[in-house]
Parts: sequence; C-alpha cells; structure tokens
Amino acid sequence: MTTDDKILRVALVGATGYTGLELLKLLVRHPRVELVSLTAKVDKPVCIQREFPVLEGLIDMECRPPEPAALAAADAVFLALPHTVSMKFVPELVKAGKKVIDLSADYRFPDAGAYREWYGAEHLDPAGLPEAVYGLTEIYRDKIASARLIANPGCYPTGAILGIAPVLEAGLVEPASIVIDAKTGVTGAGRKASLPLLFPEVNENFRAYNLVVHKHTPEMNLILGEIAGKRVEVEFAPHLLPLNRGILSTIYLKPARPIGEEDVWERFQSRYREDRFIRLLRPPALPELKDVAGTNNCAIGFRANPRTGNLIVVTAIDNLLKGAAGQAVQNLNAMEGWGEGTGF
Ligand SMILES: NC(=O)c1ccc[n+]([C@@H]2O[C@H](COP(=O)([O-])OP(=O)(O)OC[C@H]3O[C@@H](n4cnc5c(N)ncnc54)[C@H](OP(=O)(O)O)[C@@H]3O)[C@@H](O)[C@H]2O)c1
Repeated sequence: MTTDDKILRVALVGATGYTGLELLKLLVRHPRVELVSLTAKVDKPVCIQREFPVLEGLIDMECRPPEPAALAAADAVFLALPHTVSMKFVPELVKAGKKVIDLSADYRFPDAGAYREWYGAEHLDPAGLPEAVYGLTEIYRDKIASARLIANPGCYPTGAILGIAPVLEAGLVEPASIVIDAKTGVTGAGRKASLPLLFPEVNENFRAYNLVVHKHTPEMNLILGEIAGKRVEVEFAPHLLPLNRGILSTIYLKPARPIGEEDVWERFQSRYREDRFIRLLRPPALPELKDVAGTNNCAIGFRANPRTGNLIVVTAIDNLLKGAAGQAVQNLNAMEGWGEGTGF
C-alpha cells in the first residue's frame, strides 16, 4: 500500500447522538477510514449496534466513556458533542497532532467575546480559536485542505450561506437587507428530552422560535460579512417543522441593481460549477426537503420578482448530513486530499 491509499484511523466522540449516528453510517462504509474508537457520555461500555440497531451487521464495536487513552490511536477525531463540551477535548487533541473536526459551535468564532455573548460561556481555549477553519466546504475548501482543526458549520448557516454567497460576493445584492426565513425538522435540536420537542407538542403544529436571539445569527453575520467584505446583519427567523430532518430556507434579497433570472442562474452555475453536492434548479423549479433527505446535497432554487424587485432564493438541506455529519466527512475528505465525495 502506498501513502496515497493509506487508511486513516478515526475516533468519534459523541457517538450516541443524532449526528454521531449519521457519522457512523458514513464512516463504516468510507473506503479510507478505520474506526478505532467510539465514546460518549455513557456510564459503562455499550455495543453501538445495540444502541442503534440500524448499524447491525455493519459494525461491531463498543462505545465507551471518554478517556484520553481511547483517542490515542486515532489520526483524526470527530467531536459530535454539545457546545461548551468540545472545547474541553480540542486543545489536547490538537497538541497531540490529531486532525479534529468539531461539529459544535465552540470554534466557529475567532473571537471569544462573541462566543461569550451568544453562548453564555467563557471560552476555555481562546488561544486555540485562530487555528480553526470554518468548514463550509464549498466556500473555504482551500483553507480546509491545510487545516488541523475544523469548526463544522451550524445547520441553519449552511443552508442560508450557500444560497446567498454567490450573489453576495459578486455584489449583486445588498448586504444590509438579508431576510432568512428557515424551517427545520426536530433532530436539529439533538437527541435529548425536552418538553417543547415532545411528539404531541410538535406534531400537527408549526411555530417560530428564538426570533432575534437564535445562536446561529452571529455565525451567519460573521461568514456573510467575510464574503461581502463589509458588515452584515441578517434578519433570521427560525421555525420548527413537524418532521424529523431537513431545513428549508427562504431567503429574501434586495438586488443592488435590477437583475434578471438568467444573470442569477449564470452566477450560481459559475460559482458552483465544481461542487458535486450543490444541486441548482432552474426557475421556476424550487427545492423540496424530500429531494435532499438522506443526502449531503444542498438544493438551490430562486425567483426574481419583477413587481417587488426582490430576489428570493430557496435552499434545502438535510440538517444531519449537509448541515452536520455529511459536511464533516466532506471536510475530512478535503483535509486528506481525497475526492470530496469519497464514502458517500
Ligand atoms: N442535530 C443537528 O442537526 C446538528 C446540526 C449541526 C450541528 N450540530 C451540532 O453537533 C453537535 C452534536 O449534535 P447532536 O444533534 O448529535 O447532539 P445529541 O444528539 O444531543 O448528541 C450529543 C452527543 O454528545 C455526547 N455527550 C454529551 N456530553 C458529553 C460529555 N461531557 N462527554 C462525552 N460525550 C458527551 C452525548 O452522549 P449521551 O447520549 O450519552 O448523553 C451524545 O452522544 C452539537 O454541538 C450540535 O449543536 C447538530
């Protein structure tokens, strides 16, 4: 075997969560990966295929309480942990020379002040923040290729930024008037008990939540600000759908000058020409959640409204895949110089 087809030893921390399960499903069939350790907040070792019978026949491994020794054998570590927990693991892993892909928000801001303000916690590793690369693969793949620490994006920011970036970076729309009206399935909140997320509270219901204060707002502002080269302050309205998975974002943009759908189509096509996980729909077609569920794709459609002058972009992703685990594996592939679609 040459170094070109080496097998990477991979550990997963947080294997019993929703994104942990999706990572497992991808990693067990990834041709360049050997899973060497699964850990989670368990009291004693549990067989992961008993915890998730869908894995029966694909894997036979124990998930253990997190101990540093369990991660020692790994070349790369996925952290599918709640925010404020990941940053307890990252410094040691980076120091030990592991590549780290963190699915939490702990390393998404270069500034510990923004983290304190929006996540209500003091950052435990402010010196480690500049090392992290924001893992929105289609936008930052050059930096990702040489990164050791990836801050995997939030699910809502993934769907929103991919729909806005092409027209914003080309100066086709105003950075000051971006409205993102997004709807997520319930797995977006993780696999924990919570009264507002109980089946009878969610089923046959639909509600907005966390208006003005949602934690993904500063992440969108930060990345869209970098893309625009100027300050961005989005209006973000998250909603909870009575579905397990998927995020549909309807994005209202003010064109900087009158633009037609053909110009917008050409812009999206040229921006995402090389991107196998972006699915562009020509107007009047619009994306639907069922078309992306179970995939790492981001489907994007749009309409230019001749009466209001607005450009309306609609994106659809699977929050657990392109919004989390799928993008994390795409990032691993980009870090290792493998094809981004390896293992999908
Ligand atoms: N769900 C999504 O759509 C989505 C999308 C993008 C990003 N994310 C982010 O990805 C991360 C994981 O999300 P999730 O939805 O998979 O959450 P989850 O379902 O709640 O799973 C969290 C996992 O972390 C483990 N854990 C919690 N505290 C721990 C500790 N102190 N030490 C070791 N393991 C611990 C849990 O173990 P136990 O089960 O034993 O408690 C579980 O395996 C979060 O930061 C989330 O914000 C999620």
